[in-house]
Amino acid sequence: MYFDNAATTPVDPEVLDAMLPFLREKFGNASSIHFFGQETRAAVDKARQQVAALINARPTEVVFTSGGTEANNLAIRGFVEAIVDTRDVKPHIITSGIEHPSVTNVAEDLEKKGVEVTYLPVYADGIVRIEDVENALREATVLISVMAANNEIGTVQPIAEIGKFVKNLRSTGRKIWFHTDAVQAAGKIMVDVEEIACDLLTISAHKIYAPKGIGALYVRRGTRLHPQSLGGRQERGIRGGTESVPLIAAFGKAAELASQLVETDSKRLGDLRDDFESRIFERFGDAILNGDRTRRLPNISNIAFPGIEGEALLINLDMQGIAVSTGSACSSGSLEPSPVVRALGADDARARSAIRFSFGKQNTADEVDRILEVLPDAVERLRSLSPSKTARSESSAA
Ligand SMILES: Cc1ncc(COP(=O)(O)O)c(C=O)c1O
Repeated sequence: MYFDNAATTPVDPEVLDAMLPFLREKFGNASSIHFFGQETRAAVDKARQQVAALINARPTEVVFTSGGTEANNLAIRGFVEAIVDTRDVKPHIITSGIEHPSVTNVAEDLEKKGVEVTYLPVYADGIVRIEDVENALREATVLISVMAANNEIGTVQPIAEIGKFVKNLRSTGRKIWFHTDAVQAAGKIMVDVEEIACDLLTISAHKIYAPKGIGALYVRRGTRLHPQSLGGRQERGIRGGTESVPLIAAFGKAAELASQLVETDSKRLGDLRDDFESRIFERFGDAILNGDRTRRLPNISNIAFPGIEGEALLINLDMQGIAVSTGSACSSGSLEPSPVVRALGADDARARSAIRFSFGKQNTADEVDRILEVLPDAVERLRSLSPSKTARSESSAA
């Protein structure tokens, strides 16, 4: 049973069908002028429309990348590199303290090169405050990058408010842009680039039932980026390299399905998740929900079970055929407690005791029943083995 859909999702059979012809007979290079090229060019154009429709963008504003990581790199580094020559002062960017490493690591790398960065706090609910964004603003601020929804705790950030704030500043002549990483949000909640009023927005295919290795950056018309992959004129020169037509076609199909199903799927997953959580909290009065109960994605539940090590619970559940995670897949193997849960003000013990259950469209109510048969015993067993109950009482108080 797979409850780790925030890490990645299985490929939808319809998505697989959409990509197979481009792995078999339709192999042309989409830049070739002959028939083989025209055939694959048409597939790329169609997918661009499907992906654009998912986020209410124009197809010409969609740049295909190898995934969310590359899109975040292109958005932030590409933007800063494009702007740096036009400014006398060091640019300043604002981001949050709970971004995905593909944002945080770029921001830290840019800091080494003289860019100044403010990392906004998130408080106990895991949400950024618009007042903090306003207070962080400086003369030199050129970019705000705040994720749409967090990958570990699912909290949804006030991105439309930030977008409005940036838009108002721009109307007074300020040169400032807004990027949001919507990798977890797209396909789970409505993501509309006009409503958000963002200039750059990142999405990734493998979180919406398509294969890994493909994603996109929405680039609003008129937003300049310095390419990070120099090569041919593909993707309007912003991202050189022969397009992976099978992956692009798959992404297009997945985006189309997500556009059609986002509301119904989200409702069903939200109900499943809420049922799961209420039964967990009924059984474990001391369990703690990490993040905000309402302002979050419908498919993520991050729960701390005081007195246990999340990693031990994960392994225990895995041995019983249930896949969950302790945080993001990107930080697995790290001995450090989750920085996202720590950013909520949690102590190390609570951060280490957190488990992320992330639901996907293949999950059923029967699976939730099954996990509830197994999980309580596993938690109790680990608690009875725990060397001290100190961590437990300390965490329960948090
Ligand atoms: C919020 C967020 N941003 C970016 C990424 C990176 O996307 P990709 O795996 O396509 O590189 C992920 C993947 O886990 C994510 O959750």
